[in-house]
Amino acid sequence: MGNRLICICSMVSEKEILSALKKGARTTADIQKITTAGTTCGKCLLSIDQIIEEFNAKRPEGPQQSLQFG
Ligand code: FES
Repeated sequence: MGNRLICICSMVSEKEILSALKKGARTTADIQKITTAGTTCGKCLLSIDQIIEEFNAKRPEGPQQSLQFG
């Protein structure tokens, strides 16, 4: 996992998305609220979904409900 740019519109990197996931984000909506990635053109949403899926698959407790942000 590197620091590639995922959302060009909001200049959000994979590292920032992973950081949000580590802090408790669970869904694409969580990532959008925390990082603003995927809130402009939406072209990066598939990539965000993939990062979330990969991250959730590695969680020891498995995927869980979204935490409430904002
Ligand atoms: S590239 Fe992410 S919203 Fe446009």
